[in-house]
Amino acid sequence: ATIYIPCDSGALALGAEKVASAVEKEIAARGLDAKIVRNGSRGLYWLEPMVEVETESGRMAYGPVTAKDVRSLFDAGLTAGGTHRLSLGKTDDIPFLARQTRLTFARCGVTEPLSLDDYKAHGGLNGLANAVAVTPADIVKTVTDSGLRGRGGAGFPTGIKWKTVLETSADRKYIICNADEGDSGTFADRMIMEGDPFVLIEGMTIAGIATGATKGFVYIRSEYPHAVATMTRAVEIARKRGVLGVSVLGSPNVFDIEIRTGAGAYVCGEETSLMNSLEGKRGVVRAKPPLPAIQGLFGKPTVINNVISLASVPIIMDKGGEYYKNFGMGRSRGTIPIQIAGNVRHGGLFEAAFGLTLGEIIDDIGGGTATGRPVKAVQVGGPLGAYFPRALFDTPFDYEEFAAKDGLIGHAGIVVFDDTADMLKQARFAMEFCAVESCGKCTPCRIGSQRGVEVLDKIAGNIEPAKQIELVTDLCNTMKFGSLCALGGFTPYPVMSAINHFPDDFRPSPVAEAAE
Ligand code: NAI
Ligand code: SF4
Repeated sequence: ATIYIPCDSGALALGAEKVASAVEKEIAARGLDAKIVRNGSRGLYWLEPMVEVETESGRMAYGPVTAKDVRSLFDAGLTAGGTHRLSLGKTDDIPFLARQTRLTFARCGVTEPLSLDDYKAHGGLNGLANAVAVTPADIVKTVTDSGLRGRGGAGFPTGIKWKTVLETSADRKYIICNADEGDSGTFADRMIMEGDPFVLIEGMTIAGIATGATKGFVYIRSEYPHAVATMTRAVEIARKRGVLGVSVLGSPNVFDIEIRTGAGAYVCGEETSLMNSLEGKRGVVRAKPPLPAIQGLFGKPTVINNVISLASVPIIMDKGGEYYKNFGMGRSRGTIPIQIAGNVRHGGLFEAAFGLTLGEIIDDIGGGTATGRPVKAVQVGGPLGAYFPRALFDTPFDYEEFAAKDGLIGHAGIVVFDDTADMLKQARFAMEFCAVESCGKCTPCRIGSQRGVEVLDKIAGNIEPAKQIELVTDLCNTMKFGSLCALGGFTPYPVMSAINHFPDDFRPSPVAEAAE
């Protein structure tokens, strides 16, 4: 029998390593003919470590498993898919998984991350094989036709970005994969890098062939040591097996990848400061124009895309632009890996076509709060995303629909808060976060965020609150329209949404009033 135990860092944090050694001991002690495969995570984090076993009727799941449960699991006939109190039934039938549309994450948690053969057996490299057989312009057309938009947050059409790079002539061009996943409540990039690294390598290689770039960099945040290790190993394997190198899949195309680690600055997820960081400089934002697509890394035309954008390309090149485009709504085509986190019962990764409402995601899929208290607010799109109240739960997951309600999807991370959350504190946190992470290049962000913290503190201290609200609103407008990048420019979203949707939290408390 084959027993799957995740090596994803989310599962490791919950004890997967101990479970794996307990399973190994049990197999040896019982003299069983069974092997352990360390897979990625399926993304059902409230069930991690989730152990699976291959049976004749498919894979059966158990979870959350601790090392202490292992003996009784074997007593119950784990290797044959026996029933146990931790039984979850057939993995594919678990509702949280069965309801998903897994295109980008199709292999994540299914295959052995570093087995290129397993990757190929599950459709891997089909997209790249198609890409080497056509012209760069054909690849760019397919990606454009698919409707894929940048999954890092801004939602810029990927095909158009690639076209700019393809049509800019230069002696060298680069592909950068932005894996500096810094948003609160996000983990999709990490899951791909740890659970299906070859899909990212394949996507980057296709991007290189499509635009004439021969060198790629993956810029991974230092907080992801497991992702760094897995990606490094995967690149070595891909080189050895002719996926990367001077003759990609035997074609005349040249492409290689280097893994780089960041040093912990949130702003280095912003594309221009990321490039400065890659060049060995301080991570300060550069003014645009010039666009990275024209003058990017080392002044050369550069495609800079998020992990999920690049990891979605192989399936598009495999199944065609039309196939991908058929999922979704409006101008948001394809699928989006929604990351449900915070105070929520069923936290995890849920890949679905665009269009689910926020209410469906939080109440139905996420199962409400973990504390069992009512949901007060959800923050979508990271620390710079807006707080939405229940009244906006009918908003469909779509770039334009969110923007119409002064929110953003961003990298599709959702953080849930129950009714004990203090939105004034959350607004202050946004300003404080901006002050700490500001690169310091422009005044609205560098100075504005400091003043923002002070003004919000005055509201908390009940010093002329009405006047402070006016001031902070004015300040937010200055930051929104005057900042050079999204850090200063988007901090007003959490602040103003908290003020507008939760005005009670910005009024003096009855206690403070009584004391007056
Ligand atoms: P942006 O709107 O300035 O640019 C989007 C992308 O399109 C950039 O790569 C830009 O270079 C490119 N682009 C624009 N016009 C182009 C053209 N004509 N040809 C080729 N390329 C072109 O947005 P920005 O500042 O890059 O990103 C802001 C977003 O980042 C926000 O929406 C936010 O949600 C997201 N974000 C994501 C985080 C994460 O952890 N993933 C963290 C913080 C923010
Ligand atoms: Fe730097 Fe903030 Fe200005 Fe962005 S908005 S360039 S982080 S100072």
